[in-house]
Amino acid sequence: MAKNEAVLAALTAVLPDVDEASIAARIETPKDQTKGDLAFPTFTLAKTLRQAPQQIAADLVAKIDDSAFEKVQATGPYINFFLNKQAVTADTLTTILAAGQSYGQQDTGQGRNVTIDMSSPNIAKPMSMGHLRSTVIGNALANLANKNGYQAVKINHLGDWGTQFGKLIYAYKTWGSEEEVRQDPIATLLKYYVTFHEKAKADPALDDEGRAWFKKLEDGDPEAQRLWAWFRQESLKEFTEIYDRLHIQFDSDNGEAFYNDKMDAVVTALSEKGLLESSQGAEIVDLSSINEHLTPAMIKRSDGATLYMTRDLAAAIYRKQTYDFAKSLYVVGGEQREHFQQLKAVLELMDFPWAKDVEHIPFGLITFNGKKMSTRKGDVVLLKDVLDDAHELALAQIQEKNPTLANQDQVAEEVGAGAVVFHDLMNDRTNNFDFKLEEVVRFEGDTGPYVQYTNARAQSILRKAGVAVTTEDLHLDDERTWETVTLLSKFPETVSRAFEQREPSVIAKYALSLARAFNKYYANSKILTDDAGRNGRLALVAAVSTTLTEALALLGVQAPAEM
Ligand code: ARG
Repeated sequence: MAKNEAVLAALTAVLPDVDEASIAARIETPKDQTKGDLAFPTFTLAKTLRQAPQQIAADLVAKIDDSAFEKVQATGPYINFFLNKQAVTADTLTTILAAGQSYGQQDTGQGRNVTIDMSSPNIAKPMSMGHLRSTVIGNALANLANKNGYQAVKINHLGDWGTQFGKLIYAYKTWGSEEEVRQDPIATLLKYYVTFHEKAKADPALDDEGRAWFKKLEDGDPEAQRLWAWFRQESLKEFTEIYDRLHIQFDSDNGEAFYNDKMDAVVTALSEKGLLESSQGAEIVDLSSINEHLTPAMIKRSDGATLYMTRDLAAAIYRKQTYDFAKSLYVVGGEQREHFQQLKAVLELMDFPWAKDVEHIPFGLITFNGKKMSTRKGDVVLLKDVLDDAHELALAQIQEKNPTLANQDQVAEEVGAGAVVFHDLMNDRTNNFDFKLEEVVRFEGDTGPYVQYTNARAQSILRKAGVAVTTEDLHLDDERTWETVTLLSKFPETVSRAFEQREPSVIAKYALSLARAFNKYYANSKILTDDAGRNGRLALVAAVSTTLTEALALLGVQAPAEM
């Protein structure tokens, strides 16, 4: 930031008639280091100044006060600024050491709320890889929202309502046992559900039984209610074990059922606005006036039952009333794109001015060693197993590299879970990708453990130095440190960009670049040598560790001090 400001100040001083914002917008970072650290193209000035761009560049360079720079030169139509590396380095390191973990904190959000609908698995089923993505992307976006000065509200919109729970209750009562469910809740409930579907193929009358139980549930039948509440509670307990391993907490787990008593109001409002139409006994909202390609939103089924959409409408309105959000994000797989287009379209038709703040954040599909994850059939890859395997792989590497490390088990957990989360977040959100655990948990390459290991290495240097780093004496060998320092100085703008683009991968890629730059420096420098540059080098190490730790924290990844 400070760097751009120096360039902007120099340019506005010699271009008093040009609007400052338009100058700022045109300052570029050249790809080629020999063209300086920042550049300003003069093309757009040619018209007003009635001169050739080359001439303008040369004239301006002659006038610019270059005392704050190493040099300023004209290259054809460009003005190239070479920053004073000493000054930028001292400035960057001083800022980071003073700020600590709050380095990069922005105030863009001014404390306004951003609701984040994330994770939201369906109860009585194992959490899928899709829900893992929603969980970790949602959590990273929440951290990024906070870092940008918003207040994140993390909502686990549990799939805890719908006709399938009638089937499940019927299956439990017919083939199940309390004992068995207690032993292993989700797996057992999934088994009942699968059994129900198998038997219903031969005997369609079972579907009526399922429907009847769902009707009882909707009508508040005590037994149906009790079983539903129990299934929900057991499911949430199991989900929470995973959330704990990922260090994720929610501000609300109001799921779909929470909106049962809030849907009548929505249906009434839609009907009063004249938006509701009957179609083959069902109630729908036509959306063609918003977008001719959108299919109508289904509000009530022909049997009077409300739907996923109805509950989402009630939830959207409830969230606006409760949190007065600046943005309402829904981190849900790309396959629900149309659902969220419909949701937003209905809210627009209802004339809610905040409909524009409702945003679907889709993401791509993960396959696991080439296999798709599915919960309908029995062949699921359980997230718990993935985390356990990652833990084992991390532990094996720790035992090889650092056999005397204390609390190996805890570190292995932080590295294993961190590896899974980092890999998920390092890919562009909407890309599909395959997940091969051996590659994900490696300590080298584009992995979370590589970043964690780099940070642990930095921590170990600081421990060895055994002195407090000061900002008094920051002499550094610029040629070696410049790449690292430049990256460090870009953390605040990276934090803004990642949130603006709703893209945690921006942070993951940044952390990898910073780790790589630092390791290159580390390999070629004797950091602990007792000479005049020692404090400066240690300050750089401390700044790298602070920034890497914070980047990992934004992603929801732990940064062990030793590994
Ligand atoms: N439970 C849903 C599913 O597993 C995801 C819910 C997403 N959130 C929402 N507000 N619709 O597909």
